[in-house]
Amino acid sequence: MAVPRNLGPVALREIPDPCGIRQAKTLPASAYSSAEFYERERPSIFHHDWVCAGVVDEMPATGSWTARVVGGLPVLFVRDKSGELRAFLNVCRHRASPLCEEGEAHAGSLIRCPYHSWLYQLDGSLARASGVGSPDDFDLADYSLKPVRLAVWRRTLFVCLDEHAPAFDVGALGAAIDAYPIESMELALSDTNDRPFNWKVLLENYSENYHTPFVHPEIDTSSNEDYPMISDGVVLYAWDRPLRPSGSRVDEIRATMLPGEPGWEELASIKMDGPYGIGGYLTVWPNLMMNVFPGACLAMWMEPIDATTTRVQRRLYVRPEIDATVQESIIDAHRRVHDQDVDICTRVQRSHSAGIDADGVLATVEERGVYFVHEHLRSRLDV
Ligand SMILES: [Fe+2]
Repeated sequence: MAVPRNLGPVALREIPDPCGIRQAKTLPASAYSSAEFYERERPSIFHHDWVCAGVVDEMPATGSWTARVVGGLPVLFVRDKSGELRAFLNVCRHRASPLCEEGEAHAGSLIRCPYHSWLYQLDGSLARASGVGSPDDFDLADYSLKPVRLAVWRRTLFVCLDEHAPAFDVGALGAAIDAYPIESMELALSDTNDRPFNWKVLLENYSENYHTPFVHPEIDTSSNEDYPMISDGVVLYAWDRPLRPSGSRVDEIRATMLPGEPGWEELASIKMDGPYGIGGYLTVWPNLMMNVFPGACLAMWMEPIDATTTRVQRRLYVRPEIDATVQESIIDAHRRVHDQDVDICTRVQRSHSAGIDADGVLATVEERGVYFVHEHLRSRLDV
């Protein structure tokens, strides 16, 4: 059974309510629309925290490389001949040319800068700088590509652009899905879209269930007693809990879906009872959202483009043995629910972009996830 590191289920239940939520308010419009606010977020969050850069199985094959933008910075992902994946800033140490255009795939034994043909090994070291002549004290060893820290967690890939930040640690709640077989699931849906809202609008939307009966009326929440949320400060974890466990195994599991409690590890092996019937929802600060269901898993991550534009990527994985009709219904449900969320987020952003502050209080139970986002923001920006 996957018991969270250093923190059993009892301890998890004892995490106190975030008492500050009783004084909390919706953030001002500028937090979601001002370029100046966004320029503060970039260094404090996206160039400092561990940021989800995608899924690891979309990374280059052995002996090849590609480039992505992560947290607004150009990152080169390289897999060497031994299969080890590394990341570097996608900038030649000579005159700052990108080594590879975003999304391009290259293979070979040396990475060639297209500007002056400096050549790098796949481990990032500078192999040759033909034509450089004899600059004072020039030593190839001093001009390796700048490394970017990298970590893989449950099929997702994280990078950290701050060499002094603590090591990647998704925390106790992240470890709770260790037994969930994400890696053996098959890709069923992949999409990438630039959306007209600030990244926090979607993160907050994802992190609360308050809107579900109104924005997603087809999701039946009537059988749910509540939607508990817990946080260890790194991950916010929420799950559906049934109103009246009937005594069936499925209902027992639904009642005790707190990570580490008996039944959790069986989540992936129980029969699928329809999209969104049973779910666990993880918000991993700052930009990954992961849903786990008995038969499917959705990873959704964001790359902010500017204050009011966000690239949203989603990958839906399903258990291969699931019936094709059920798979289709899962895919359809995820499309519909996401479209509904994108629609409300787009409309909310219009108010933010108009500069109109909503100063409403937060629901003290239902919007703990929104408060989780605000608390992280405050800790990074001192707002
Ligand atoms: Fe929603």
